[in-house]
Amino acid sequence: MDPLDDLFEFLRFPSVSADRQFKSSVHACADWLTRRLQRAGLWAVKYETAGYPVVVAGNEHRSGRRTVLIYGHYDVQPADPLDLWETPPFEPVIKGDKIFARGSTDNKGQILAHILGVESAIQEKGDLPVNLVFLVEGEEEIGSPHLEGFLKEHRSDWHADVVAISDTGMVGSGIPTFTYGLRGILCLEIRLRGPSSDLHSGIFGGSVANPATVLSRIVGKIHDGSGRIAIPGFYDRVLPLEQWERDLWAKLPYTEKSWLTTTGSPRISGEEGYTFLEQVWARPTAEVNGFGSGYQREGPKTIVPSKATAKLSFRLVPNQDPAELRPLIEEFLKRECPDSVEMEILRQHSGKTYLVKPDSAFGKAAQKALTNTFGKPVAFIREGGSIPITQSFKDVLGIDTLLLGLALPDCKAHSPNENFSIENFQAGIRLNKQLLEQIAVT
Ligand code: BES
Ligand code: MN
Repeated sequence: MDPLDDLFEFLRFPSVSADRQFKSSVHACADWLTRRLQRAGLWAVKYETAGYPVVVAGNEHRSGRRTVLIYGHYDVQPADPLDLWETPPFEPVIKGDKIFARGSTDNKGQILAHILGVESAIQEKGDLPVNLVFLVEGEEEIGSPHLEGFLKEHRSDWHADVVAISDTGMVGSGIPTFTYGLRGILCLEIRLRGPSSDLHSGIFGGSVANPATVLSRIVGKIHDGSGRIAIPGFYDRVLPLEQWERDLWAKLPYTEKSWLTTTGSPRISGEEGYTFLEQVWARPTAEVNGFGSGYQREGPKTIVPSKATAKLSFRLVPNQDPAELRPLIEEFLKRECPDSVEMEILRQHSGKTYLVKPDSAFGKAAQKALTNTFGKPVAFIREGGSIPITQSFKDVLGIDTLLLGLALPDCKAHSPNENFSIENFQAGIRLNKQLLEQIAVT
């Protein structure tokens, strides 16, 4: 079967973990994946959890070989806003040298490249040079709520030496990229309630608080005028950037102009004193992910809305700890809230930060696999995104993770028109074969 046909099948499942409406598709996707792993010549088992299943697969383990755990996720982000897609998100199409579909890069294309690399190695040599465990989950995009527990339960089943993940980015097309750090995350939702129903703004407006106005003021206080987060204690554990990182990153082929083209924004903004790469890769942030109140459809409507909500996420950097920060954030929000409205804070998921020394023995093996595949020197970066389970691999299994991503800067992960470069898909298949060979001799 053509690798692209496989990818198309995988992409047709709307495996959106965030939205219950897609529940049966997420399960169907897990079934497809289990069968696909079996077809690659591996044993594969679908484990049920309290949430979506974890698909585990592997070869017959033999003593005296390195054991590699490859992690990925088969769930995807919601495709919304649907009207901004040029082609339907779950009907993959090839345009030019790219495949367009939700999940094409994040993470179905990349995890399938791992699977196909393994399959091709098995077909060529009859076996792999390493012991292998695949762990593919269906809840990454909602913070992996059940995976750490699952890892703990199965801790003694897998004695892996190292984890490999392709769920991060490349600096540019053809530039092999080694990611040695990820941001953590902390999500919450604020709900404000004012009057018990929407009110006529002429009859009542001015005499009671408007929850939309109050929420805007509260959210507006999260940052100070220099782009720093104004929550007391928020920066206490932030690890400063090291000079070698600043020097390396300054030489990467990113410019403010390319960053603005990729984002479509008018200018760079954010915390003063840091370049845009430093802001994203090594500084914590607060973002409003959704903000809602009052009348949203066409034409005017004169009301004082009853409610207002904001969905917030904080990206954290080493050594910030989400468990320690949550009370600080909640206290701040509560303190800023006047008693003219009622505030409720919903706790959503969080995930730890990750930082590793790039020059460990396995790190070097991965870098060799990268140069052998792409024929160029490796770029060393951190990333602003989060893969919550990465630090748990260290905490629970005691092993490091190699982050060898294949996402290009313009892949539009989480955005409309997400795409994956066919060249990277094919390079990913080669990279994965290389990686196993290099790890085998480490
Ligand atoms: N692949 C991303 C993580 C990522 C994105 C790493 C960009 C490096 C660069 C992953 O699938 C993802 O989107 N994770 C979520 C995690 C969250 C929902 C807990 C994220 O970062 O928003
Ligand atoms: Mn993602």
